[in-house]
Amino acid sequence: MDHAQANAVYTASADFIAQAHVDAAGYERMYAASVADPEAFWGEQGKRLDWIKPYTKVKNTNFRPGEVSIKWFEDGTLNIAWNCIDRHLATRAKQTAIIWEPDDPNVPAQHISYQELHDNVCRMANVLVSQGVRKGDRVVMYLPMIPEAAYAMLACARIGAIHSVVFAGFSPDALANRINDCQAKVVITADTAPRGGRRTPLKSNTDAALLHCSDRVRCLVVKHTGDQIHWMDGRDVDVKELMRHASPDCPIEEVNAEDPLFILYTSGSTGKPKGVVHTSGGYLTYAAMTHQMTFDYHDGDVFWCTADVGWVTGHSYIVYGPLANGATTLMFEGVPTYPDAGRFWAVCEKHKVNQFYTAPTAIRSLMGLGPEWVDKYDLSSLKLLGSVGEPINPEAWSWYNTHVGKGRCPIVDTFWQTETGGHMITPLPGAIPVKPGAASKPFFGVKPVILDPTDGHELHETATEGVLCIADSWPGQMRTLWGDHERFEEAYFSQYKGYYFTGDGCRRDADGYYWVTGRVDDVINVSGHRMGTAEVESALVAHAQVAEAAVVGYPHDIKGQGIYAYVTLMNGVQPTEELRKDLVKWVRTEIGPIASPDVIQWAPGLPKTRSGKIMRRILRKIAENDFGSLGDTTTLADPSVVDDLIANRKNRG
Ligand code: WT7
Repeated sequence: MDHAQANAVYTASADFIAQAHVDAAGYERMYAASVADPEAFWGEQGKRLDWIKPYTKVKNTNFRPGEVSIKWFEDGTLNIAWNCIDRHLATRAKQTAIIWEPDDPNVPAQHISYQELHDNVCRMANVLVSQGVRKGDRVVMYLPMIPEAAYAMLACARIGAIHSVVFAGFSPDALANRINDCQAKVVITADTAPRGGRRTPLKSNTDAALLHCSDRVRCLVVKHTGDQIHWMDGRDVDVKELMRHASPDCPIEEVNAEDPLFILYTSGSTGKPKGVVHTSGGYLTYAAMTHQMTFDYHDGDVFWCTADVGWVTGHSYIVYGPLANGATTLMFEGVPTYPDAGRFWAVCEKHKVNQFYTAPTAIRSLMGLGPEWVDKYDLSSLKLLGSVGEPINPEAWSWYNTHVGKGRCPIVDTFWQTETGGHMITPLPGAIPVKPGAASKPFFGVKPVILDPTDGHELHETATEGVLCIADSWPGQMRTLWGDHERFEEAYFSQYKGYYFTGDGCRRDADGYYWVTGRVDDVINVSGHRMGTAEVESALVAHAQVAEAAVVGYPHDIKGQGIYAYVTLMNGVQPTEELRKDLVKWVRTEIGPIASPDVIQWAPGLPKTRSGKIMRRILRKIAENDFGSLGDTTTLADPSVVDDLIANRKNRG
């Protein structure tokens, strides 16, 4: 097996390069053009879409603090569902739009053609209209990975409603907070969600959430498994039943390029999740272009992104990007290890997948179970592999390259964020040789800069390291935070004036390749999912027996980062194993299983400055089992608490 060397460079095969959309010279030329004249470049790219009223203005963006405003194609109008469905019907009515692969491999897969997608989306749209949903209204979705999730997203787009998909792993409380924050008129859920042979009770979670919401919120239920559920007449609506009677035609709503398409909540460095707002014209242009270019998607290919539609990756690369390109996109309900560790590869073989896009955490967990699970299957259909969510470590890269790609598939390591709408830094396959672990080069129109974190000045040398900012807007950029433009400016544009701040650290090597090194704020990356340490802390301190909590990330073999919580109990409360378990359970119910602390350490005291600020740097070091170099602790109010934390540390490497 070949081991990825720190600075090894992998070039795509001559065959791959010959068929790729862009070659090395093409990338250089197009990239230079895209940043020299964004108006001309994106004015041309916007023509990927069908417009009802064509735009005459392309870019109107301003990163200056106090005036941040981002508009693309601002006088154009269009409809997103039209662009993802209707316009393909003349040539692709019978082509499969969505392949649905269920959790249980014995349940038949579905092949949904563009015509069927059209009819189902229209039916769903008519159901939403019948429930009073109008242009601009918010619709929250809390669904399994089933075709109805895509129908519902596109149905909203068809009638100009704004969707907000909440990952089905979130708790009732988290769901309620999101429904309330965006003041949704309707929530769409399902009875239960099968995953890995188990069932998540989505409807009963939604029932619990709705206790905290306005009683005007309607609950649309997809009866998916037929499991028994509680039914509230007058509030609950059987979606499939209504769809059966609804018309398969529904007129499209004309929306402005800058009308919101969706809100997606993500974690920030403070407690409350942020409602990231994406709009229509620029987002779809960017999702479509990145899907085609980064994955070198060609007509007829079968594309599989293993993400959940509850994350932005699912929005851009299961639904919007692929469908805008008339692609065949695969939607998988299950998990990589059910019924066994060969499931991903069984699905690749079964549906002859051409491009496969997953996260390093999935690769690491499968790697540990042995290559025989991959080797059993015929993966000759694969042309390209993708990675997203965190830097891919060399071991995982080698395994992916050798066992899945058989050394002949380029691997694209795509750096981007919920906020960016689509890929920002990624190798273009065939054009940019790959260095394992590097996101490598900017996508068209993206101007990454590395700043000195101490004073914010731009570091111009090619080889350098600092914080990663973006110097100018791109069409897929988020526009605001729902209902809180001030927080939007504060979170992304205030620290480094005139730039969009990603929150990530980054190194640029002598070849101009970018290596994203991880978050520099209080956000941690657990299995490629973002978690705010403050969110977990506020969940912990909401527990009656907890006085104080501090949460940090620490290196975790499979998850990338694990959640390490230091907990100070109320006076007189005994730290028992039972209480520890109870706290883990508590966080799961407050936020969801993805926020479960991996480690809880009882902390009689936390290291604080005399002004009361918790010194997280110290807590991070102890959690990393690297307490030899704690740095200056003399400013602590009580330096002795550090000795106790070290003595009782849980992660001993
Ligand atoms: C954060 C964004 C949109 C992708 C899914 C996660 C980290 C993401 C990479 C990569 C290094 C990466 C960053 C970023 N990240 N992809 N290829 N290499 N780091 O979206 O939940 O918004 O998280 O994930 O730290 O800021 P997200």
